[in-house]
Amino acid sequence: MFRETWTGKMGFILACVGSAIGLGNIWLFSWRMGAYGGAAFLIPYLLFVFGIASVGLMEEWAFGRSQRKGAVGAFENVFNSRWPGSGKFGAVIGIIPVLAVFSIFIFYAIVIGWLLKYLFLAIGGAFSTMDISEYFGTFAGTTGTIGWHAAGVLGTMLIVLFGIQKGIEKANKIMMPVLFAILVVLLIRSVTLPGAGEGIAYMFVPEWSKLASIETWIMALGQAFFTLSLGGATMLVYGSYAREDTVILSSSMQTVLFNFLASILAAFAIIPAVFAFGLDPAAGPGLLFVTIPNVFAKMPGGHIFGVLFFLSVVFAGFSSSVSMLEPAVEGLMDKAGMRRCTAVIILSAVAFAVGLPLAVDMGRFGIWADIATIYVLPLGAVVAAVVFFWVYGADKARAEINKHAVHPMGKWFEAYAKYVFVAVALLVMILNIVFGGIG
Ligand code: TRP
Repeated sequence: MFRETWTGKMGFILACVGSAIGLGNIWLFSWRMGAYGGAAFLIPYLLFVFGIASVGLMEEWAFGRSQRKGAVGAFENVFNSRWPGSGKFGAVIGIIPVLAVFSIFIFYAIVIGWLLKYLFLAIGGAFSTMDISEYFGTFAGTTGTIGWHAAGVLGTMLIVLFGIQKGIEKANKIMMPVLFAILVVLLIRSVTLPGAGEGIAYMFVPEWSKLASIETWIMALGQAFFTLSLGGATMLVYGSYAREDTVILSSSMQTVLFNFLASILAAFAIIPAVFAFGLDPAAGPGLLFVTIPNVFAKMPGGHIFGVLFFLSVVFAGFSSSVSMLEPAVEGLMDKAGMRRCTAVIILSAVAFAVGLPLAVDMGRFGIWADIATIYVLPLGAVVAAVVFFWVYGADKARAEINKHAVHPMGKWFEAYAKYVFVAVALLVMILNIVFGGIG
């Protein structure tokens, strides 16, 4: 059967970078960097993204490309060829990662809805007149979010409907350059505010003592996996559309680099401005929906910069959400023989319907988001790694990863992948459970 591919290496990398850059970069990274040692945090972070999580990227891409299938079909193939007749079992295991990212899509679409609402508030110049601190609490978790939630699902649906080249790739080719350009503009605004120096110091002055705390390392590790969208489905299905001449090894380094760059730019765009107005950087929704609007309410030129900021976050959101819907779409197309458009519509309707009770109740929203990110997603990453490196075989995995590479990886990589990477993925899963979330 005909299977789409990306138009080329550039399209592939942009789509993967789009998936990687998301709310994790914006509402977690800058805060974590400040809280866990400033520049010192970059040591565990860079070690884990380049040394460990990049192997996860290579694994998922190579897995998808070698089988030319998404997780369900790829797991099925690999099980069948290793133990004839066990394909069904493999397919069932392959559903885990697809369900994991789809359940993340369900709550991510709700957050995109909030972002769209704030984009419109920013456009209307509302930040300077409304009671920002009160507002989020009276909006999130109410029926007032439903229309915005629907828009979050619809926007994602529209992109995925157009397929790989004309939908996901094209959208990312527009959104990613705009996102980076906006972040640079915001960075310049942020660091030139009087009093920005304190924020830069908060972010960068290394506190080496934080490296002695195990918590710093755990947070950096969780961040590394989540920010690169590891979970056994997203990067796997994106890899399944990669061309044979796309070099997996160098692509993974480039994706890690661009994703890191976006995190650093976002941190520079946010933290100095927060400090310049005497506010406290918070983590999570509080940073985006309370602290930052307060910054724009006070900042000279805050109206336009506020619009730009929320536009860039909306782009970061959609470029990630499409990557959470596509694995399930591919699954239905491949396994149930559905047309793309049927699969996309059915899954979008399901995501909206399941999301509704979460959108109107923050308690339920929190429980759902926790289960998806803490328990299911890390399990997806583990099963994909085990199936590819152990069941399919680390030797064949290495061959796929090394295809066309100028500096192919030696035999050492097989042991590294089978033992070190798989053990760390397991560790991420266990730490998530023990700490109630580290991603
Ligand atoms: N990496 C994205 C972020 O940092 C989130 C994301 C997108 C994701 N697709 C994913 C996470 C798939 C896990 C699996 O916000």
